[in-house]
Amino acid sequence: MLSTIHKAAAALATATVATFWISTLFSEVFLDHTAITAVKTAIPYGFSILIPAMVLAGVTGAKLAKGRKAGVLGAKSKRMPIVAANGILILIPAALFLATKAQAGSFDTAFYVVQAFELLAGAANLTLLGLNIRDGRKLTAGKRRRAGA
Ligand code: HEM
Repeated sequence: MLSTIHKAAAALATATVATFWISTLFSEVFLDHTAITAVKTAIPYGFSILIPAMVLAGVTGAKLAKGRKAGVLGAKSKRMPIVAANGILILIPAALFLATKAQAGSFDTAFYVVQAFELLAGAANLTLLGLNIRDGRKLTAGKRRRAGA
């Protein structure tokens, strides 16, 4: 049960970050300012999905770990403060700034500098989440083998 909730929350959090990242890059590269503004405006609303999903993934993960800190579990839990700091200090302020700028039609140098940083910080978080998925799969590899899957 807890493991199912953990997997669902982890998948939702990762999919949300990936959606923000891909829709940002796609709209910046292929679409016009109207579409970019729509994407930039939608992303802060998406935080209402992302933040609870990320917290739930972290809390259920910590419960599943039951205080074990060695190896893969230690690596997984050490990534979480980095993901959170990156989100709170860079990604959320950047997304709010970019939404405000886009809505004002202000696609200036500051917009694109912050946009570039947001894409980099987003890629860093996606990498860390991807590593947590890979390590989660490692943790359940034995279970899967025993189940014959
Ligand atoms: C948002 C960050 C995280 C993501 C994306 C993530 C992803 C995953 C995934 C996909 C699995 C399931 C693998 C499978 O069933 O084959 C898993 C399992 C697991 N994760 Fe995480 N995880 C995250 C955070 C954490 C944290 C912080 C911990 C605690 C150290 C943790 C501990 C575990 C444990 C113990 C399992 C095995 C559950 C079981 O035995 O069924 N996870 N994780």
